[in-house]
Parts: sequence; structure tokens; C-alpha cells
Amino acid sequence: AEPPVAGSVPQRGDPGLRLLRRVGVVDPTSLEAYRAAGGFTALRRALAIGRAAVVREVTDAGLTGRGGAAFPTGRKWAAAAAQSDTPHYLVCNADESEPGTFKDRVLLEGDPYAVVESMAIAGFAAGAGRGYLYLRGEYPRALHRFEHAVAESRRRGYLGRSVLGRAGFDFEIEVRRGAGAYICGEETAIFNSIEGFRGEPRTKPPFPVEQGLFGKPTVVNNVETLANVPLVLERGAAEYARTGTAQSTGTKLFCLSGTVRRPGVYEVPFGRTLRELLTLAGGVPEGRELRAVLLGGAAGGFVRPDELDLPLTLEDARAAGTTLGSGVVLVLDDSVDLPAILLRIAEFFREESCGQCVPCRIGTVRQDEALRRLVRHRQPDDLRLLREVGQVMRDSSICGLGQTAWNAVESALDRLGLLGPVTVPATAPVPAPVRTAPGG
Ligand code: NAI
Ligand code: SF4
Repeated sequence: AEPPVAGSVPQRGDPGLRLLRRVGVVDPTSLEAYRAAGGFTALRRALAIGRAAVVREVTDAGLTGRGGAAFPTGRKWAAAAAQSDTPHYLVCNADESEPGTFKDRVLLEGDPYAVVESMAIAGFAAGAGRGYLYLRGEYPRALHRFEHAVAESRRRGYLGRSVLGRAGFDFEIEVRRGAGAYICGEETAIFNSIEGFRGEPRTKPPFPVEQGLFGKPTVVNNVETLANVPLVLERGAAEYARTGTAQSTGTKLFCLSGTVRRPGVYEVPFGRTLRELLTLAGGVPEGRELRAVLLGGAAGGFVRPDELDLPLTLEDARAAGTTLGSGVVLVLDDSVDLPAILLRIAEFFREESCGQCVPCRIGTVRQDEALRRLVRHRQPDDLRLLREVGQVMRDSSICGLGQTAWNAVESALDRLGLLGPVTVPATAPVPAPVRTAPGG
């Protein structure tokens, strides 16, 4: 089934939907329909103003990555464009494997030509002649629609040799499909996967902008990030940046799921509160009470019902000790077994760890085991062990998976007060922790 899509409420004269403006309105299989709805004007403008000006516009617009990490897009493009090593590559990350994330799917299925156009613009800006869409394997409709859009765009001169007649800019797009591993959404694991190796992350630095796909300078951008680029070029940086806040410009797609009346993808300007977003989605079912919201996904954190006035911006989320991540808003009412959700998250990380580095390979297993014991027996030793293991994973894992595998559990303990305070039953004395002497 297609995920439902819903609109934002306009803010400060904003005409409303931006990224989703064509979804469900314009035929996603028709290049003509896309053109009639304003499609490909941004690519024309990009080619007219030149690489440096495109990078400048995107930088001035304040566009940040929408995959989860919010890195400044213009800075990334400028860094890749500045590399003398050739060729350069573009990778559009459409793996979208964060549980509760389905916004990129909506864009790819509902507005595939916009992704083609955005990739061409990004490729032009970064000096890349080839772009790869790394697509989640479980998105067959997105695959079909995107491949059709690529073929049509090539036939009409929007891709291929001398794009739109611009001598010196050849751009091709290839699609590569993931095979269900969460870790293959990590940017350097994508490189390995495309190159035909095991999908394991590489250590960073060097960052992909210096050494990425096939060891060459590579820009990796999420689908939603790229979908913002035509808006920046159509409206200009200043106009684009008028929406949202000074540090979080534009709109954001949020994926509402869980015990909420109208789940789906919602587009709102940065700065709306979590309460407003939940209201748009109809809140929790009649007769139920909100217990918590998991914001940012399995690697994110929980928000309590008394914290719903949190403005949804990068800066406010950071200040509140959480993250917007990839836009997951998992709503949990009082019918939900929260410890069971936590156990599922711990199991998820244990299953999805690629096993390459010790802190994550062992840590995710220890976390899962200790959490299971804690839920059942509430022993302080397990709580101590959980915290210790979590901190080690955060400090010493190679990639984001291990570094964030403890986030949700920690936040459930500390923000929700779940599983605590731990009390020791009088009849069951707790043995002193076994200490091992250094070298012992
Ligand atoms: P990161 O912070 O390591 O990097 C973010 C981006 O900025 C990367 O493209 C990186 O190459 C680039 N970058 C960072 N420093 C740079 C520098 N000095 N110069 C040039 N480029 C630089 O984060 P990572 O590991 O790429 O992503 C983590 C995020 O991914 C988490 O926040 C999580 O929410 C999200 N995530 C999203 C999923 C999804 O389905 N959308 C799935 C899993 C995680
Ligand atoms: Fe693999 Fe986990 Fe290490 Fe990442 S942190 S490289 S997923 S073992």
C-alpha cells in the first residue's frame, strides 16, 4: 500500500507543501506532466549559472542533510568539487532502512523525476559524471518508477551526453538495490556494496568527499536532501531560507507511525512543535493517553508527554538532548508495552551489527542480554553493565550503528524513567561485582 501523505499548515506566507507538492497530484510516470508542473527549470538554471554559483546558492540556503546527520550540503558539495582527483561520483542514498522511516519512498514513488533532476544538479555541482541511486531492496514500486523516469529523461536529453546541450556535462544514473541489511545504508558500506564487496563500513576520515566510491571523491546525499535542491534554485537561497528558523531552514518530512490516528508522511516547516505535528496526525486514539514519542528512530531518543512543546528544529532537538534523525516520530500510547519496544530495539541492533568491530559486535549482544535480564529481574548490576557497555559502544565503534545503538535504551532509562529505580529484593542479595585486576 502507498503510505498516506498529508500537508503542512502554511507559515509566514509560505504556500504550503514544497517537497510533496507534486506527490499524488502530478502523474509520476509522465515526463510531460512533470515539466508542466515546473519540472527541470531548476536544472536549466543550474546549468546557466554554473557550478560555483549552484554550490553557493545551496550553501546560502542553509540546506542540511535530511538522512539524519544534518551535515551542511553546500559544504559537502564544495569539498568534493575542490578535489583534483577524478572522476567524481554522486551517490543518492535511498536505502532508508531506519525503522519507521518511509519519506524517501514517498518521494521516489510520487515524484521520481524530481529525484532525477536533483541528482543531475548535484552531479553538475560536484563535478560528477555518474550518479548511483542506492535503493532499498524492498521498494519495488520506487524502483520501477525511478527507472522509468531515468530512461525517459535520458531519451529527452535531461541525462546522458551534454545534458540539455551543455558541452562538457555528461551525466548518467545507475540504480543499485540493497538486499535488506540495515548497515548498507551507511555511506561507506554503500560504496563497498556497489563495488561488489561485503557491505561493511570503512573508517572515516578520509571522508567520502576525498575518497569515496572506487576511492574517488564522492558526494553522498539522502533523497529528501536532494529533493530540496530544485526548490533552492527555483526560489533562490534567500527565499528558501525564509521558511523554518535561522539554523534549520526549509521544511522537513516527518514519518508518523505507531498509535496515532492518521499515520503517514507530513511536511512541516522547521520550528513547528511536536504537539502541532501530533495534532496534524490526529493524536492518539480516542480514550488513550500518550505515553512517549520515539523521535529520530532507533538511534534517536524518547520524548515525554510533558515535552511536546519541543520545536522541531536541529538546534532545539540538540539542546534537548535528542535528534530529529531521519524524521521518525513513533507515537506510543498507554496500550504499548514500552519494555517490549526497548527489547525489540536492542534485538534489532544485535541482528544488524555487521560484526566488523568488537565494541559493537560484542556490545550489542551484551546490551540485549543485560536489558532482557533487567526487564525481568531489575538488578542494579545489569543497569551498571548496560551503561558501561553503552558508553563503550558510543566511544569506540567504527560507525554510527554502534555509536548510537545505546541511545534509545539510555533515553528510556533516563528520560522516561523506565525500568527504574532498580530495587533489590530483600530475599535476593546481589553479589559484589567481580573485578578483574589489570592484566588478570
Ligand atoms: P556523520 O555525521 O558521520 O556524517 C554525515 C555526513 O557528513 C556524511 O555524508 C559524512 O561523509 C559527511 N561529513 C562529516 N564530516 C565531514 C567533513 N569534515 N568533511 C566532509 N564531509 C563530512 O553521520 P553518518 O554516520 O553518515 O549518519 C548518521 C545518521 O544517519 C544518524 O543521525 C541516523 O539518524 C541516520 N540514519 C538514517 C537512516 C535512514 O534510513 N535514513 C538509517 C540509519 C541511520
Ligand atoms: Fe559494523 Fe557495528 Fe562496527 Fe559499524 S559499529 S562497523 S555496524 S560492527
